[in-house]
Parts: sequence; structure tokens; C-alpha cells
Amino acid sequence: MKVTTASVTLLAIATLSGLCTAVPTKRADSSTPTEIQILNFALTLEHLENAFYTQGLQKYTQQDFLNADLPPWARGRWNQIAQHESTHVSFLEGVIGDQAVQPCTYSFPDTDPMSFVTTSFMLETVGVSAYSGAAQFLSNSDYITSSGAILAVEARQSTWINSAVLKANPWNTAFDTPLDLNHVWTLASGVIVSCPSSNMPLPVKAFPALSFPAGAQPGQTVKVSFNATMTGQLYVAFIAGLGATFAPLSSQMTVDIPSTLQGVVFPVITSSNQMVTDNVTIAGPTFLSFHFNSDDVNEL
Ligand SMILES: *[C@@H]1O[C@H](CO)[C@@H](O)[C@H](O)[C@H]1NC(C)=O
Ligand SMILES: *[C@@H]1O[C@H](CO)[C@@H](O)[C@H](O)[C@H]1NC(C)=O
Repeated sequence: MKVTTASVTLLAIATLSGLCTAVPTKRADSSTPTEIQILNFALTLEHLENAFYTQGLQKYTQQDFLNADLPPWARGRWNQIAQHESTHVSFLEGVIGDQAVQPCTYSFPDTDPMSFVTTSFMLETVGVSAYSGAAQFLSNSDYITSSGAILAVEARQSTWINSAVLKANPWNTAFDTPLDLNHVWTLASGVIVSCPSSNMPLPVKAFPALSFPAGAQPGQTVKVSFNATMTGQLYVAFIAGLGATFAPLSSQMTVDIPSTLQGVVFPVITSSNQMVTDNVTIAGPTFLSFHFNSDDVNEL
């Protein structure tokens, strides 16, 4: 993707005014979730993935996949992914025991095999961010080891979808993106309709949804939308890797997407241009994926 001179200039201005900085995205809340809550948080996400694959593979046949120009070997791999998710569910249920949460009801956005593919990519990628972000709350070494082993499989699945199937970048940057629990929950709650009231309450809340125009690319100026009151200067924190790049949000709700961004990025509306903690989050995150070529990595 080429970047126009105009947007490079805008980014340069943002950089000069100190708006593009890398900062850790740590949880500000002092209330630390218990280990069992974290395991149930992981189980909630595994139930969600399990339901997505069960429903999707019932809806779309091999012929539907072929008609959508997907390769003949793809659907069988999704059967394997579905089995992995089902195994993650039963594994976590076994670890948690009686207190294990039950599945919720869901409303998935996929309407055809191609949107199944892109939703699957999003779910697996968010799964990686959820496990890496939640790791800090685990202390039992068995749980740390097994959740690391699950995280790695979700990363392989995410990579397989984006590179082998979609022929795009297999990874983002040198670091994947750990997300804070509430940021993960905001993304997950977009597809959760309701959960059984008997489920253990989880110490998470969803921020208002944030939406970017379809096809938004680095270097473009785009209009965003979210349902929260605007007070004072707001920013878009583009969380990627271990930090975030900040850009100011205009009063017309437009933002210049930094042209340096590559791969999966989670934009969040914040009242700060220094940190992306819960206490400064206004809306989001949402999920953006900026494909980049295998050559000329610096020339987006
Ligand atoms: C938000 O929380 C962080 C971390 O605890 C703290 O440093 C910061 O001052 C807080 N910001 C606001 C606006 O309350
Ligand atoms: C904001 O609310 C309106 C009206 O309910 C809705 O149509 C729109 O999708 C919402 N926007 C976002 C980003 O959730």
C-alpha cells in the first residue's frame, strides 16, 4: 500500500507534537481478578469459539467453500480447528470443575464462507491477545504452562488463516498484542447475546463499541463512530505489539491512521495521549488488519 505525501506530512506533524509514542497498556484497576475468574474468562472465550465453529461448519459445506474460491484443503483444517477449540473447552472445564461457566448465546457476523474466514481470523487473533493479556493474573505454574500452550495454538491458527488462506502477512510485528481484560471483553461482547445467570460473575465490563469504515488503511483520514459523550480532546490509541501509537481525534470525528502501522491493530478512543488504561478508555477497541507485503516492509 502506498502512502500519499499528504498523510506522511500529517503523521510527521503528529510525531513532532509527541502524539506517537509507545507505552505499556497495563490495567489501571487495582482489583485483581482471582485465578478461577481468569480461567473462567478463558473458558468463556473458548465456548464462544467452539460455538462459532460448530455453527459455521454446519452452515457452510465444502461446496460452499469451493464456490467462494477457497482452496479444497481449507474446510478440513477448520474441522481440526473446531476440534482444538472443543478440546480447550473440555480441558478448562476439567481444570475449573464445578465452577466452570456454561456457554452463552451468540450472534456471529458471518453470512458466507468468506466472512466466516475473516471472523475466524479475528477470533483467533483476539484469543492470542486475551491469553497474553491475562497471563499476568496467573500464578499457578501448571496454569501458566497450559495457557501458554493454548495461546500458541491460537496463534498458529490465526497465522494459517491470514497467510495460507488469505495470502497475507503471517505475523504483525516482533510482538503480538496483549490486551487488557475489559478491552477483550468489549470485542467479545459484540457477538455475545446473553450468558446464563448461573455463571460465575466475571470482573469485566464492555466499553461502548467503536467502528471504523470498512477497508480503512494506514495513511488515510477516516471518520470513526462510537456512542459515548465527547468531552475535551480525545485520541485514537492504535494498540499494536507492546505499545500504542496515538493520533488526535478531530471534532468531526476524523483521525489520520498512522502510516507506520502493520498487521493487526486495535484502535481505542482515549482521553489520554500517554496511556491506554481502562480509566482513560472512552470506546473500543475494534479490530483492524492492515495487510503488508513480504518485501519492502518499510514501504507500506
Ligand atoms: C489512570 O490510571 C493510571 C494507572 O493507575 C494512573 O497513572 C493515571 O493517573 C490514571 N488516569 C486518570 C485520568 O485517572
Ligand atoms: C450508535 O447507536 C446507533 C443508534 O442506536 C447505532 O445505529 C450505531 O450502530 C451505534 N454505533 C456504534 C459504533 O455502536
